Amino acid sequence: DASDIEKGMYDHFMLKEIDEQSIALRNIIQKYQHEDGETRLDSDIRTVVQESDRVYIVAAGTSYHAGLVGKQLMEKIAHKPVEVHIASEFVYNMPLLSKKPLFVFISQSGETADSRAVLVKVKELGHRTLTITNVPGSTLSREADFTLHTFAGPEIAVASTKAYTAQMAVLTLLAVDTARVSGIELDFDPLQELGIVANAIEALCSQKDVFEEIAKTYLMTTRNTFFIGRAVDYYVALEGALKLKEISYIQAEGFAGGELKHGTIALIEEGTPVIALTTQSHVNLNIRANVQEVVARGASPIILSMEGLEQPSDTFVLPRVHEWLAPLVAVVPLQLISYYAALHRGCDVDKPRNLAKSVTVE
Ligand code: G6P
Repeated sequence: DASDIEKGMYDHFMLKEIDEQSIALRNIIQKYQHEDGETRLDSDIRTVVQESDRVYIVAAGTSYHAGLVGKQLMEKIAHKPVEVHIASEFVYNMPLLSKKPLFVFISQSGETADSRAVLVKVKELGHRTLTITNVPGSTLSREADFTLHTFAGPEIAVASTKAYTAQMAVLTLLAVDTARVSGIELDFDPLQELGIVANAIEALCSQKDVFEEIAKTYLMTTRNTFFIGRAVDYYVALEGALKLKEISYIQAEGFAGGELKHGTIALIEEGTPVIALTTQSHVNLNIRANVQEVVARGASPIILSMEGLEQPSDTFVLPRVHEWLAPLVAVVPLQLISYYAALHRGCDVDKPRNLAKSVTVE
């Protein structure tokens, strides 16, 4: 049928879409580049971001995880304070807002009912709104004041992959643009750095057998799996755990490395897989100490580090990219490990039970 043709040589859309992440980034680089080689967002978007005193990111699922990374980027690069909220909570538990808030909705589909409910509410309150979406004609795009397009192409698999990396890429451009307008000196060319990320993702996607082997070695019979990281790696750990839960039904949790000892470490047994990420130099030693804590309780560690921070015992070393953009690269092995875990456990990768691609009811 038509969907088989679209899948081409792939057994599943998810694997195809994981591979397409480098293409999505190259699309973004091309679409957002001006003739002088720089990125500049619409002057209206620039103005509205500039005038706001605080950005409120609202999203669900994987898009929420992209929002957490976006907060990091906006605060580090543009020195703009950002809060990130789960859409379904925001409506019923609204935080005290700043004087000039800007609401940024992140949504692959642009149709998530929980996010739309927030959009309707904040518009009633008279606030400015911007949607970052993969579907420009979608409800959230039409109803917001402004839209930034993620140009990832249609995403079919229920588990989101390329939309997530594309969202983080666009958030990077938003952060850099905001920094420039504010006169912040940056030694960081986002288009060049995103190109390096695209190459790194391609390199990872050419080594799928490594991640298939990790899945086969550690995840075939386990009941649970933990993902740990610190700083921005923690946010990627949350996304890694979500991917594994969604498609393999293994109970998985993402944790900030230092928080494990405050409770969750009680769950570590002989052979419990713990996937640890370390891409940030300032917490490299801290997360490694957390790995030691779980290993002492019998955990089987899978350590994914970034070139420059590696140690001999690491399971895999990721190609080096700018630390700010490490999440775009670090998520790829987690997507592939989840894919192969689900595949070899006989799960329906593209259409996991109980889940919908786009949840248009509250
Ligand atoms: C559903 C999907 C998730 C997605 C979430 C938010 O739950 O299964 O993959 O992350 O909705 O969707 P959105 O389209 O708003 O990004």
